[in-house]
Amino acid sequence: MNLSNVPPDRTLLDLLREDLRLTATKEGCAAGDCGACTVVVAEAVDGRLQYRAVNSCIKPAHAIDGLALWTAADLAQRDGTLHPVQQAMVACHGSQCGFCTPGFVMSLFALYQRTVAQGQTVDKHRAHEALSGNLCRCTGYRPIVQAACSLQADAAQAVDEIPIVAALHQLAATEKTDGHYLRPSTLPALLQARARHPQAQLIAGATDAGLWITQGLRRLPQIIDLTRVAELRRVEHYAHHIAIGAAVNLQDAFEALAVDRPVIAPFGERFAGWPVRQSGTLGGNVANGSPIGDSMPLLIALGVQVVLMAWRKGRTVHRHVPLDQFYTGYRQSLLAADEVLAWVVVPRPAPGEWLGAYKVSKRQEDDISAVCLAVQLHVQGGHIAKARIGAGGVAATPARAVQTEAALVGQPWNEATLQAAQAAITQEFSPLSDLRASADYRRQLLAQLLRRAWLESTGHTTVRLEALA
Ligand SMILES: Cc1cc2nc3c(=O)[nH]c(=O)nc-3n(C[C@H](O)[C@H](O)[C@H](O)COP(=O)(O)OP(=O)(O)OC[C@H]3O[C@@H](n4cnc5c(N)ncnc54)[C@H](O)[C@@H]3O)c2cc1C
Ligand code: FES
Ligand code: FES
Repeated sequence: MNLSNVPPDRTLLDLLREDLRLTATKEGCAAGDCGACTVVVAEAVDGRLQYRAVNSCIKPAHAIDGLALWTAADLAQRDGTLHPVQQAMVACHGSQCGFCTPGFVMSLFALYQRTVAQGQTVDKHRAHEALSGNLCRCTGYRPIVQAACSLQADAAQAVDEIPIVAALHQLAATEKTDGHYLRPSTLPALLQARARHPQAQLIAGATDAGLWITQGLRRLPQIIDLTRVAELRRVEHYAHHIAIGAAVNLQDAFEALAVDRPVIAPFGERFAGWPVRQSGTLGGNVANGSPIGDSMPLLIALGVQVVLMAWRKGRTVHRHVPLDQFYTGYRQSLLAADEVLAWVVVPRPAPGEWLGAYKVSKRQEDDISAVCLAVQLHVQGGHIAKARIGAGGVAATPARAVQTEAALVGQPWNEATLQAAQAAITQEFSPLSDLRASADYRRQLLAQLLRRAWLESTGHTTVRLEALA
């Protein structure tokens, strides 16, 4: 369809339900939390389709221009034969009031296309991951997970990708560098658009910005969407660092980080749920600068730099800023009005690095941190040679625990040093009390997470919830 008359801040869900009267997709929270509005989009990459489940309630309709889209109304065949994911939900009694069901079915459809349709089976871990952005109040999750694990391929119902890929190529990549919804496809075009329209709202996955529309009732009359910028969709590997482009989604970014540091994989799985990780970007998390954002404590502990780029006097300029110096106040940063955060530059691990990354939230899945702590240590001959600590949920910005680091460096890594560091970290921050946790609880968490880092880094056995499958 032609989106030229659709306002830039119209959500995909409103377009579907209100403008097109396609009501199979439901609205629950309108905040990306419940998954009732889940739809599946696909992009043609190297002649195949890559499928993503997305929350249509916080996705600007224009953001899916040039992608294939499926809603729950598109799965059954014309004669009423159910799709295997729908059939599995029926067989396993996965639906009761039915309100959440279209969203679950779409998450299952994305899972089916990524796994079962490729000849793979679905285990519990994959099922939990795929369904981590869907909430159900009625059935409980067991029958739905059972439905996911029972999925069987049905060749008669396979998506015929060839005509879709061809159609997407025909639609593809009409770069939009003017108007109400700008979608540049190269880095210079993005920077020039940013320079021409510094008042426009820059977005990536819109998993924060979408909520300003639906919860904050803000109007965004002009949007620059950076998710199609080819250069920023890459993860580049170098001898001493990896550079993660600002348009790389959180799932891919955590996977890239986990190659060098496997401990990041379970930490990454605690970030939101699958649809948010598939849409939201690491660059957006960092640029948004929430004090309870999860990636920043980790990135601060890793000594990350961000590359800020702008178009000035007819050419590209850039600067590197260490992430621990990027934030200047509550949701404020050094980013100038004409600048874009282009790259997150992550040093590769030096020999002997130990890393711990912890998130404490009320729910295990799809929840925001009360406290987040990341600890990077180099211990040589029983003494701490280097320490870097990032903390979230305990100050107005994501923060580096410099005083605690000072209490550690040069000391033997023993109970006495741990206690000194615990005392330092509880003094170093003055957290707030809010609905997620009291200030006192947050302080205690900081101290206890440091103890956990000590136990784990010195080889004591610790309980890991992720390991209790
Ligand atoms: C249900 C739900 C669960 C969530 N759970 C978590 C969680 O567990 N942990 C967590 O940390 N966050 C969480 N979030 C918040 C959000 O998903 C993250 O902050 C995400 O990384 C934002 O990225 P985005 O690409 O969607 O940014 P957007 O929403 O597109 O943009 C956010 C802000 O960053 C700016 N921005 C984006 N990219 C750039 C860039 N390259 N250069 C300059 N500015 C830029 C935008 O202008 C905007 O101001 C959650 C959100 C939802 C809806
Ligand atoms: S309506 Fe709840 S996630 Fe969209
Ligand atoms: S079946 Fe009622 S909310 Fe899931």
